[in-house]
Amino acid sequence: MIFISSKEFKVKIYYVTEGSDLIVLSDETKAYARQVGFEGKTGTSFSHLGPNTDNVIIMGLGKEEKINTQSIRKAAFGAGKILAANRIREASLVVAAQGKISEKSVGQCSVEALLHSAYSFDRYKKEAKEKYVETIGILSDECDQAAIDEAVDITRGNHIARDLVNTPSIDLYPETLARAAKETLAGLGVKVTIYDKQQIQDLDMKAFLAVGEGSEKEPCFIVMEYLPEGADKAAITLVGKGLTYDSGGYALKPAKSMATMKSDMAGAASVIGALYAIARQGLKKNVVGVVAACENMISGRAYKNGDIVGSMKGTTIEVGNTDAEGRLTLADAIYYAATKVNSEAIIDIATLTGACVVALGDKIIGATASDLGLLEKLQDVAELTGEKIWQLPLDDDFRDMIKGDVGDLKNSVAGGGGASTAAAFLEHFTEDKPWVHLDIAGPSWADKASGYIAAGGTGIPVKTLYNYVKRNQK
Ligand code: BES
Ligand code: MN
Ligand code: ZN
Repeated sequence: MIFISSKEFKVKIYYVTEGSDLIVLSDETKAYARQVGFEGKTGTSFSHLGPNTDNVIIMGLGKEEKINTQSIRKAAFGAGKILAANRIREASLVVAAQGKISEKSVGQCSVEALLHSAYSFDRYKKEAKEKYVETIGILSDECDQAAIDEAVDITRGNHIARDLVNTPSIDLYPETLARAAKETLAGLGVKVTIYDKQQIQDLDMKAFLAVGEGSEKEPCFIVMEYLPEGADKAAITLVGKGLTYDSGGYALKPAKSMATMKSDMAGAASVIGALYAIARQGLKKNVVGVVAACENMISGRAYKNGDIVGSMKGTTIEVGNTDAEGRLTLADAIYYAATKVNSEAIIDIATLTGACVVALGDKIIGATASDLGLLEKLQDVAELTGEKIWQLPLDDDFRDMIKGDVGDLKNSVAGGGGASTAAAFLEHFTEDKPWVHLDIAGPSWADKASGYIAAGGTGIPVKTLYNYVKRNQK
């Protein structure tokens, strides 16, 4: 699907608020719309398509005062589905400000959701679904071609992340994830460095190595540098959890919860997707992506419940549970970000705890932070991107809970507050750098389609990371 500014096609898509006059319709069609009960309520639409019709699709946005960016996305997604169902290849979208949402933002949210409406992961299907909609004209003064292209790049970044998450671990393992990062980013001026097992050993990343030890697939440490300000300026460093599969290790997961664990690299995928959009748009801000990629498996070499492992920082860790592996890989990745990268801030993105899903459900990101100002800025951005972020506590009680008995720290503890104890563990390796931790265990994966998001990997929080970096440009 491509988008062309100001291009007029026969079929037009309009948004209307609830109770508004349907002025774009002919009198006859308006009477018909009223007759079938169309009032512009949210989630409803009225189409009049084909020969001798008005050739319009009208999407209801609901009450004007309740409209937010999500209302626009949902309506645009619906319009995309209507176009496809009616085999319409070209149409124009009439863009205007809606409620508190500016015309430019309405246009960009629409482009995003129209692209989502055509997204499907069918690489493994013998026959791919035909994509009907080819061209959309955007009729708007404020959402010009540059604004359209930005929305396309961000959404492409989101789809790159989804594709990576949706690819099963039989094909997506540390080496292929690293290759995908290189192929996606190298042409865009991002320097991608891949460290192999020997080099990871040289870096002394003992905690990371312990997790990957049980797998036939060797670990990879991936560093992606986008430095438009020059190498001497500090970067925002994005650290993504990169477990290409999490079986739980010797603390084996039950079959049902294991079945979706190809998605345990969703944090890494979001970092790659965000860097794609950031570099494509040429944002003027140094950004570095860091991923410790490995598989958590079982074998005679695998680490075991009760082991004590070291770390790049030197801290020793009692492994009470091999399924609390993400924090071990992140310990070394975050410590690397804090000590080997010129980081002004560190944001880690991780499918880290089931406890976070219990607390917040599968639509909200749980966040903890050493820098509450940074978190607030992220939440501000998230308000517009629709990727909800809710703060969880992190204080000395949680820091006390993870203290080790025979080693320095424990990777798993009783007593509840699992999302916060995991965060306290990560914090230990941040070396007091401004840091925010985003636990995406819930919203990174959708068991079923909802709103404008298909089932499977969701590509969260690519949009928020992109827009956060955009706001931090010099
Ligand atoms: N990858 C999981 C967390 C997860 C759970 C992600 C559900 C997505 C959906 C993580 O490695 C894990 O297994 N965490 C354990 C930690 C526990 C053993 C302390 C958990 O949450 O059960
Ligand atoms: Mn696990
Ligand atoms: Zn995991």
